[in-house]
Amino acid sequence: MGLKFSSIMRVSYALLWALLMTSSLSCKHVDKKTEYLIGFSQCVGSDLWRQTMLEEMKLELSLHPGADFIYADAENSSQRQIAQVKSMLDRGIDLLIISPNEARPLTAIVEQAYNKGIPVIVIDRKTTSSLYTAYVGADNYQLGRMAGTYIGTTLKGHINILEVMGLPGSSPAIERDRGLVDGIKPFSNVTIRSKLYGDWLKVNAKARLLDAKAELPGIDLIFAHNDMMASGASEILHQFHLSEKTKVVGIDALPGAGGGLQMVADKKLYASLLYPTGGKEAIVTAFHILNKEPFARENILESLVIDSSNVQLMKMQWNRIISQQRDIEKEKNLLEEQESIYNNQQTVLDVIVIALVFTVISCGLAFYFLAENRRANRSLEAKNAEILSQRNQLIDLSVKAEAATEAKLNFFTNISHEFRTPLTLIHSPLEDLLKNDKLSATVGKHLKMVHRNTSRLLHLVNQLIDYRKIEYDKQQLRVSENNIVEFIRDIVTSFSQHARKMHIDLRFSTEAKEIGVWFDPNMLDKAFFNLISNAIKFSQKKGQVTVSIYQGEGSIHIDVTDNGIGLAPDEMEKIFDQFYQAEHNDRRGSGIGLALSKEIVRLHGGSIRVKSQKWKGATFTVNLPLGDSHLLAVQKDEQSFNFSDIRSKASYYQFDELQTANLKTLDVFSQPKEHSLLIVEDNPELLAYLNEIFIDEYEVYTATSGNCALTEAYEKVPDLIITDVVIPGFSGKVLAEKIKSDLRTSHIPIVLLTAQVTLEQQIAGIQAMADIYITKPFNREFLLASVKNLIKNRGILKEHFISDISPAEKLPVVHGLDKKFLNDFAGIVEQNLSNDKFNVDDICKIIGISRIQIYRKVKALMGCSITDYILNRRLKKAKYLLNNENHTIAEITYMVGFSNPNYFATVFKNKYGCTPTDFKKKQWPGEF
Ligand code: FRU
Repeated sequence: MGLKFSSIMRVSYALLWALLMTSSLSCKHVDKKTEYLIGFSQCVGSDLWRQTMLEEMKLELSLHPGADFIYADAENSSQRQIAQVKSMLDRGIDLLIISPNEARPLTAIVEQAYNKGIPVIVIDRKTTSSLYTAYVGADNYQLGRMAGTYIGTTLKGHINILEVMGLPGSSPAIERDRGLVDGIKPFSNVTIRSKLYGDWLKVNAKARLLDAKAELPGIDLIFAHNDMMASGASEILHQFHLSEKTKVVGIDALPGAGGGLQMVADKKLYASLLYPTGGKEAIVTAFHILNKEPFARENILESLVIDSSNVQLMKMQWNRIISQQRDIEKEKNLLEEQESIYNNQQTVLDVIVIALVFTVISCGLAFYFLAENRRANRSLEAKNAEILSQRNQLIDLSVKAEAATEAKLNFFTNISHEFRTPLTLIHSPLEDLLKNDKLSATVGKHLKMVHRNTSRLLHLVNQLIDYRKIEYDKQQLRVSENNIVEFIRDIVTSFSQHARKMHIDLRFSTEAKEIGVWFDPNMLDKAFFNLISNAIKFSQKKGQVTVSIYQGEGSIHIDVTDNGIGLAPDEMEKIFDQFYQAEHNDRRGSGIGLALSKEIVRLHGGSIRVKSQKWKGATFTVNLPLGDSHLLAVQKDEQSFNFSDIRSKASYYQFDELQTANLKTLDVFSQPKEHSLLIVEDNPELLAYLNEIFIDEYEVYTATSGNCALTEAYEKVPDLIITDVVIPGFSGKVLAEKIKSDLRTSHIPIVLLTAQVTLEQQIAGIQAMADIYITKPFNREFLLASVKNLIKNRGILKEHFISDISPAEKLPVVHGLDKKFLNDFAGIVEQNLSNDKFNVDDICKIIGISRIQIYRKVKALMGCSITDYILNRRLKKAKYLLNNENHTIAEITYMVGFSNPNYFATVFKNKYGCTPTDFKKKQWPGEF
């Protein structure tokens, strides 16, 4: 659940982050779209008129958000202004607004900007060039002319004018002067008496007027190119008491304190001509240009004369404008405030929306996973319930199975009890019969075999009954204190003759001569019989078995050690299990002997352990407690053991190994048999019996393990193999697989003879490619008939292969590997028919098996020798050529691999009853 929740959070944060990124990206995108850099180069920024121009610009700019504005003041220096414009160009301005200080010096830099593709708006003053994008300002010529006309029309009598001009070289100064000259032309009473330059500055104007003070009394009107210089003139006139006589006219008519309007109202100036700054218009035009909207190149601003007749009106107008301006300012500030509030609210709203989306998604995911969890829980609960019910069913089943097993075991035990009587009734009369000297050798041999096997059955039945008794606590111990050293020595001694026969060095070692131990001799002997008999059975030939006794603290230990085949770890775990039956006979523990030994030792309060390594022998250690404190009084019963008893009982445990079956061997003088068999069986008696069944009709080879069987099969290539499934080495099924997957032996039929009777086991046998599966106990006649039948079927197959038709066409009845062999074999022969040197060795080399193996294989599959086969193919081809193609007899002789035509003719006649020449004549009569 925690994991799921954290993943919800991770997904949600990723979503939130994506939303924030998207919104911030979109904001950036909008900013970029409206961002311009506008440069404004001002010739001088200190006076009121220019400050008004800048204010107007800023006010208008505030209505166009998203534009950056850089401003530079050249302070009346043309050089400085050039440098400032250059730096603006370097900063990458999108538009230049310039009021050039002087026309000529600034022309080049303005042209340069224009030629770079940067729009240029010239304001108020001009350059000498027409390379600019737009002009904003009043017409200075018209301004001068308006002044001249005004003077001529309003003043009577002769009027002498003194003209105070702006900066020499600046365009308004030049144009205003020209306008004035043209304006007064219609008025003969008006004359320009004198001109001087005030450089647009009050101080300079005053200084020049002082220089010309001698002229002043003769002057009726001073016309200054701006109100600042006009104000200076007014002050000079006042200084020389000429204010009453001489009038002053200026230009600009700025509102506010110190402005021209106020000076006209105060009668310091006679009149002033309105000269709008054009700041607002310049910015409006700039945005038209930048936004690629239509705009006017020449933006000429209107002008008018302001004197005592209209000054009040103008002031009122200006005051209204100013108050409106303030209102606008206020509203603008309010708007900005609102905008900032709006922006904040927008941000808050964005965050709320994002958070809402985030919450909705989180809730959705949480609900989804909750539902998923519930579903998973429900299915888990269902599964749990199912598992629980299955477990209960299993418990029920196992209880039932246990009961069934118990019932079966009881049944087997009871049956085993029942077996005892009939077995005894077979066993005892047999013993009597065997004493009869008149028995024939064969009958005697068979009766001995019956006797041995009845003894073995009795022994097995007794072991099973003993085991069940102990398991049901029905076996009462009858212990007495005896010398265990002597007891074990007697048991070992009873095996010495058997060990000698098996070529095993059996030793007994002890530290003490006498150790008194409480035990039941009639029970404990069975445990040691089993252990010692096993040790001998699983020892190597000429191996060693040692039984040693040593005393520990409170207990004694008896080791039974052999140097035999040993046990793998998984075998050691199961070796004492009652139902453990090893798959191969080369392992210990088949039967119930070890389980019984363990139970007997346990009854004595002891334990039994095994230590072993595969192929390195094994040691079984029996620990028995000393003293009698672990025993009940009822268990105590004086009885001593008797050595002759031990010896007779030991003989039951030596049964298997004592019998070395004598195999009936082939009589060297008898007729050689047509077919051979390989019989694989590790039980010597059964092997002898099988041998006896087949020896009269077949050549019989025998093997007692998987490995030996394989070697024999490769070497002898028999016509059939009979094998037991459980054999030492590898199983009969593995043997069948190996035989069938080897080219040398793949054709050999295999009979699996086994005690494994279940359907599954039989299917596994057939899957291992056995040809037939016969279960033990088998019927002798059935086995004989099955073997005969399999060999006969091979014979039918051979008929196909030696018939006239190519073997490849008849192959489906053959196993895959044999089919391939026959194909290859026929192909090799076919390719070499014309080669007279071609022989069996060539085929062996190509196929890669020995001469004898290929000989036997071909014989088994086709029933003829290789030489006969080749000869047959040669003659068949010759017949075909004689029949179908027009070659000479000599040519055909060589084509089918004969070196001599006479020999070819003889062989051909032997086979087909006429010579090749006669045969050809019958086919091609016209040719001869
Ligand atoms: C201000 C000013 C104005 C005049 C204008 C001419 O610097 O002198 O008074 O009208 O420049 O360019």
